[in-house]
Amino acid sequence: MSSATAIAHANIALIKYWGNRDDALRIPANGSISMNLASLTTRTTVRFSASLYSDCLILNGRPVAGAGLERVRLILDWVRARAGVGASAEVVSENNFPTGAGIASSASAFAALALAASHAAGLSLTEIDLSRLARRGSGSACRSVPGGFVEWHPGNDDTDSYAVSIAPPEHWDLVDCIAIVHAGPKAVGSGEGHVLAWTSPIQAARVADAPRRLDLCRRALLNRDFDALAAVIELDSDLMHAVMMTSRPPLLYWQAATITVFHAVRNWRAQGLPVAYTVDAGPNVHVICPNQVHVEVSRRLRNLPGVQEVLVAPVGGPAHLEE
Ligand code: PMV
Repeated sequence: MSSATAIAHANIALIKYWGNRDDALRIPANGSISMNLASLTTRTTVRFSASLYSDCLILNGRPVAGAGLERVRLILDWVRARAGVGASAEVVSENNFPTGAGIASSASAFAALALAASHAAGLSLTEIDLSRLARRGSGSACRSVPGGFVEWHPGNDDTDSYAVSIAPPEHWDLVDCIAIVHAGPKAVGSGEGHVLAWTSPIQAARVADAPRRLDLCRRALLNRDFDALAAVIELDSDLMHAVMMTSRPPLLYWQAATITVFHAVRNWRAQGLPVAYTVDAGPNVHVICPNQVHVEVSRRLRNLPGVQEVLVAPVGGPAHLEE
């Protein structure tokens, strides 16, 4: 039987997804907006073969069993049911960014898996259907299917919860300078975090105000208005972390160096350097800036105490098949 290889980029959320209305299908409580990260990719090959005894997953050269394999099997089963394929699959996946660098790989992983698995099984899915399928593996993965700047429409159920591109990568040459302040795996994964979100007394207010922040962010992106973008993405990141910190049990993802970077970014912006921070479910800080200043921004970040490494990522394109 056939095989296919797909490549997908990680993405950084500018307006965050935190909390589901339906945990099983990953229907989010609010919409979100992200940008794909060109230099952070997952490359995944899926091969269906009648001679395989069961599904297997090799991630960065190592076999994975248990929960990791079960999550992959969810996508494979969906694809097999649609394509009428009975065979087991071998999934071989590699990230080009350092494993354990504290950069989430589930978004690029499930976007690449959805594309490679569906193609290997002979299905030709639309971008919307691929986004819906990737969402079942990891919510944020639905945003790694389309290219450039992407919005996930929360929807009400499986059919209308998917992401679309709102501007191509070349629309605005922003760069994400990722300050790595802690390289270990996180103590509490996002799956558990989404469930805890509702135990925070401020999650409802965060969700209720999301449409306003989405409008501000979408408009700032379309108008290439950096000041407006900086204001709304820092507010949105701080709101999500406020929910995390006030959940029961509370989640505190920041390290001391995370806060050092916040202060530096705000000082630099006050001095006229266009920079803004945002943080996902971890301690590392994504510092967004226009391409013209990214060399200076990365240099300054590397000089801050507690910053171990800076990864640089321009805006990336859509998930695609390897020729
Ligand atoms: O896709 P998940 O379940 O790993 O959740 C991602 C959550 C955040 O990265 C914190 C925010 C986001 O919108 O990507």
